[in-house]
Amino acid sequence: MKRQGTLRRILRYVLRYPISAVAAVAFALLSVAATLLVPVYFGDAIDCIVQYATRFDELYLIFIKLGICVVVAAITQWLLSLCNNRISCNVVRDLRKDAFAKLGKLPLKYIDNNSHGDTVSRIVADADQFSEGLLMGFTQFLTGITTILGTIGLMLFTNWKIGIVVVCLTPASIFVAKFVATHTHQFFVEQTKVRGEQTAFVEEALSGLKTTQAFLHEEENEKKFNEINARLEKAALNATFYSSLTNPSTRFINNLVYAAVALIGALDVAAGAFTVGGLTKFLSYANQYTKPFNEISGVITELKSAFACAARIFELIDATEEESDKHKPALQAASGNVGLCEVDFSYVKDKKLIQGLSLSVDQGQRVAIVGRTGSGKTTLINLLMRFYDVDGGSVLIDGTDIRDVTRSSLRKQYGMVL
Ligand SMILES: Nc1ncnc2c1ncn2[C@@H]1O[C@H](COP(=O)(O)OP(=O)(O)OP(=O)(O)O)[C@@H](O)[C@H]1O
Ligand SMILES: [Mg+2]
Repeated sequence: MKRQGTLRRILRYVLRYPISAVAAVAFALLSVAATLLVPVYFGDAIDCIVQYATRFDELYLIFIKLGICVVVAAITQWLLSLCNNRISCNVVRDLRKDAFAKLGKLPLKYIDNNSHGDTVSRIVADADQFSEGLLMGFTQFLTGITTILGTIGLMLFTNWKIGIVVVCLTPASIFVAKFVATHTHQFFVEQTKVRGEQTAFVEEALSGLKTTQAFLHEEENEKKFNEINARLEKAALNATFYSSLTNPSTRFINNLVYAAVALIGALDVAAGAFTVGGLTKFLSYANQYTKPFNEISGVITELKSAFACAARIFELIDATEEESDKHKPALQAASGNVGLCEVDFSYVKDKKLIQGLSLSVDQGQRVAIVGRTGSGKTTLINLLMRFYDVDGGSVLIDGTDIRDVTRSSLRKQYGMVL
């Protein structure tokens, strides 16, 4: 369910570039059509030689058509990857833009509760991997599926009997690919998660190096890093190993299909019901038909990892924003009477911090707040500036509850020296 949601959102990003998307589909169709025609002319040429060994003018004509197909296939494939490159680069740029714009709208609570490294990893590394997967997936999916459909049509048209054998045997290969893909997804999710954790840890270790050295914590840091690194190795190994099973297993089934076609076709030729050129054509089709299954199953694993990355970026984009206060009035120039009225507040639900705190500071009064570390001095500033909202009671400026005015107008009234 969640994965479908991710797919739909990715498509919405892709469809922001409708011309490139339509062109990509069109070029995919053209390149597949040209590729599928190659064995047709090849078979015709063989039949031409087998039947009338000396009709060179006819043979030349067939070869010219063959040449045109090969050239068209090459050019359209190049144009297809051009379109796909454009789409994936644009999409990842948009995603990064949305994710970064989101950072400015997040409440301080999000920034405090999520490690910076993990957020950086979402915007940088995950976005990169997503774009790679999208590019590969898009190209091979499009050509793969059109090749499969085109070959089925041509096979049934050339010799429906053998065609049906091929079409019936292939679901086995799809089944195997799907089985492996569903079992690999969890490993890719795990891999991206641990990688985020590692980035976060490295970032923290680097930014806090001074503290680490001051408290002689280097060894412990290294131990912790090695532990995360080992977990990442295991997750990556699992993901790569299981996804690499797909190719050999589908290829095995495809080879069986190929052998079946060769056997039935050869018997048909021996019985005179099928030409040699026809069989050649068919063997190329059987080969061409199964190849996209291999590719698609390879691409599926790539797409899985891309989806896992996209989901992490969307998670960031979807994080609850600071509630909009556009409709509220601005706080007019305050004279400076600050009041706290029965304020309750805690960062974590069960860990009570400030309870029933009342305080009144009049305009012009100078007040120092003193307390041991962790007693809540900085927290008081967080509440006055409305980086966090109180759980109970209220904070008043000139008698106005600060929740009734816009945050920006409130913050403009303060001076703060860190
Ligand atoms: N973002 C946060 N999430 C959860 N707990 C927090 C968060 N920020 C602070 N705390 C906790 O709230 C308590 C009060 O912290 P606060 O930073 O207000 O203390 P302080 O009085 O400013 O201390 P110091 O003198 O060390 O600056 C501490 O126990 C601290 O661990
Ligand atoms: Mg403090």
